[in-house]
Amino acid sequence: MTTTTLAKQPAAADKGNTVPYAARIDHVSKSFGRTGAQQHVLEDITLDVAPGEFVCLLGASGCGKSTLLNLVAGLDAPSAGAIATPGGRPALMFQEHALFPWLTAGRNIELALRMRGVPRAERRAEAERLLELVRLKGAHGKRVHELSGGMRQRVAMARALAQDSQLLLMDEPFAALDAITRDVLHDELTRIWRETNLSVLFVTHNVREAVRLAERVVLLSSRPGRIAREWQVDIPQPRRIEDAAVADLSVEITEQLRGEIRRHGQH
Ligand SMILES: Nc1ncnc2c1ncn2[C@@H]1O[C@H](COP(=O)(O)OP(=O)(O)O)[C@@H](O)[C@H]1O
Ligand SMILES: [Mg+2]
Repeated sequence: MTTTTLAKQPAAADKGNTVPYAARIDHVSKSFGRTGAQQHVLEDITLDVAPGEFVCLLGASGCGKSTLLNLVAGLDAPSAGAIATPGGRPALMFQEHALFPWLTAGRNIELALRMRGVPRAERRAEAERLLELVRLKGAHGKRVHELSGGMRQRVAMARALAQDSQLLLMDEPFAALDAITRDVLHDELTRIWRETNLSVLFVTHNVREAVRLAERVVLLSSRPGRIAREWQVDIPQPRRIEDAAVADLSVEITEQLRGEIRRHGQH
């Protein structure tokens, strides 16, 4: 396992390609609440995401997946341990698209470009390029309410990519979509990941989705969330959710997940 065999690296100041990880989660624990009435949500999580790697973090609902992702995003601080993302601020994508409804699809993306400091003259063309990348060519002028759920998540993906971060954090981004739309977006995400050198840390409670997408699946236990086990997924991409190899590994992981849930109570 990379996490245990890698030597300690210098801190986040070391930019460039010499750093062997896009994200390092180093003995991280997280508790909420006052002393005496604390809820230990995450305990001693150690995990590296390598540059260009696609890791799925899988676990039952309430096990602390979003909490961990928020820590990697820098939205909250760990109670113990350290997080490093040497490539700078990660891009984020959630289940809810969080697009501004009063802006068009294109303007939502241009806003992210502006925040990144892209000059005004270049924003329009760059937004068009990103819309094309998520296969929404011609949607620049569309309002959010004119778009389907799948199209909104495509715009949200384009906006996340507009941040030009080396690390993309995704928290159940397709969980609210119907199965067919989700399947199409799995294909798109896999394609975009393979075309870019993005590292992806993708959170889901859906075993099949994890096996469909990831190079490595990391299973979290519940109460507190610990790393229970991980699997290297060597099935060649592009995969189909109905592939026999995807189904077989999903059965194995589901068994383990069931065991975790049985051990730690109802959900
Ligand atoms: N800001 C917070 N304050 C208190 N408790 C929290 C906070 N955020 C999350 N929790 C608790 O941490 C646990 C894990 O939540 P979460 O990370 O959202 O789980 P998951 O994303 O795996 O479903 C839950 O019991 C939740 O109530
Ligand atoms: Mg969550």
